[in-house]
Amino acid sequence: MKIGAGMTWKRTESIFLQLRGRGRLEILHLSHKEEYMKKSEEEKRSDPDNGVEEIQQEVEDYLDLRPRKLSEYIGQKQVVETLEIAIQAAKKRGEPLDHILFHAPPGLGKTTLAHIIATEMEVRIVTTSGPAIEKGGDLISILTHLERGDVLFIDEVHRLPKVVEEFLYPAMEDFCIDFIFDKGAHARSHRYRLERFTLVGATTRAGLLSAPLRERFGILRNLDFYAVEELCQVVRRSAALLGVPIDEKGTEEIAKRSRGTPRISNRLLKRVRDFAEIRREGKIDKATADEALRLEGVDEIGLTGLDRRFLETIIRYYKGGPVGLEAIAATLQEEADTLVDMIEPFLLKIGFVARMQSGRKATELAYQHFGIPYPESNRQLSLPTRKKQL
Ligand code: ADE
Repeated sequence: MKIGAGMTWKRTESIFLQLRGRGRLEILHLSHKEEYMKKSEEEKRSDPDNGVEEIQQEVEDYLDLRPRKLSEYIGQKQVVETLEIAIQAAKKRGEPLDHILFHAPPGLGKTTLAHIIATEMEVRIVTTSGPAIEKGGDLISILTHLERGDVLFIDEVHRLPKVVEEFLYPAMEDFCIDFIFDKGAHARSHRYRLERFTLVGATTRAGLLSAPLRERFGILRNLDFYAVEELCQVVRRSAALLGVPIDEKGTEEIAKRSRGTPRISNRLLKRVRDFAEIRREGKIDKATADEALRLEGVDEIGLTGLDRRFLETIIRYYKGGPVGLEAIAATLQEEADTLVDMIEPFLLKIGFVARMQSGRKATELAYQHFGIPYPESNRQLSLPTRKKQL
C-alpha cells in the first residue's frame, strides 16, 4: 500500500542507519581491538575480510563505556530487577515487551537501558527523539518499518508534537494506524496493521507528558541519582576498560565529584586520565584527581561553574530568594529549560535549593557551601509570621 504524502523517507533512512543488527552488540574482545589498532590506516581501509567500517564501529562501541547487559549495569537495583523479570517473562511467553517509560535527569542511564533492553530481548533498536519527529508522516514511516518485537526508543518523548502524539495512541494500544483519506462527506479511513513493537520513551520531565500518552506505558520507571559507592563501581569498571591505573582514593575523588551521575563520572575520568598522562606519570591517585578536577572547574562536591553561578545569583542578586526561574535564567543568560533539566535536579537532591510556589530559594546549606552567613530574615520567611496568622 502506498502511504499518504508528506512522508520523509530520507529521515527514515537516516534513522534506520542506526539500526543495530542481531549479534553486533557483543563487546569486542580486547585482543580483537588491539589487533585492529595495530594496523596501519591503509590496512584498515583495505581489510578484505572484515569490512573496515564494521570493525571501526565495533571499536567505537567497545570504547563507549556504557554497559551492554543488565548484569553489567551498576545501580538502580529495583529498576534493574523489575526489568529483568519483565524481560524474562516476555521471552518465556514469546511476546514483545510492554511499552516502557523512563523518567530521570540527564546522564542517569535512560538511553543505556533502552539499548540493554533491545540486547536482552535480542531485537533491533530504532532510536529517535521527540523534537526530531515533526509530522505524523515521520512517525508513520518509522512505525511501518518496525519488525515484530523491535524497540522504538524515543528520547525526550515529552517534546513530541501533539499531532504526532495522536498517531502514537492507537499504535501503542492496538498496533495499528488509522489513515483518513479525503475530507467531509467523502472521508474514508483505512486501518494499517503494525507489527507488535515495544516503545521505550525517555523523559526528563514526566510532568510535561500528556496523560493519555503516559497511561499507554505498561512499565513506568524513575531513575534516581547514584550513591557515591555506586559511582565508585562505575569509575572502577570504566578505568579497567580504558586501561587506566587508578587507586581507591582517586576513584572515590572522581565519584564524589560526579553529581550523582555516571555519565559525569566517565567524562571526569577521561579528563583526569588526560591530566595524569600529560602532567603526571599516568597513574590516578587522590592528589592527581583533585588537581585535574580543580582545573576543570569542578569543586569538591561536584558543582560546576553553572551550578555555582545559579546559586550565587539567587544568593547575591535576589537575597536568597524566593525568585522566579525566568528571572534567574535572564540574569544568567541561559535557557530556563537548561536550568530545569541540567542544574536544578541535583541541587534539589542535595538540598541546596528549595522550590516553592513563589520561586526558588537558596537553603542554609548552600550559603554554608559558599561561606556566606545565612540571613536571619530568610529563616523567618519560611515560617508563618504573626501578621499572617492574624
Ligand atoms: N556506565 C555508565 N553508566 C553505567 C552503569 N549504570 N553501570 C555500569 N557502567 C556504566
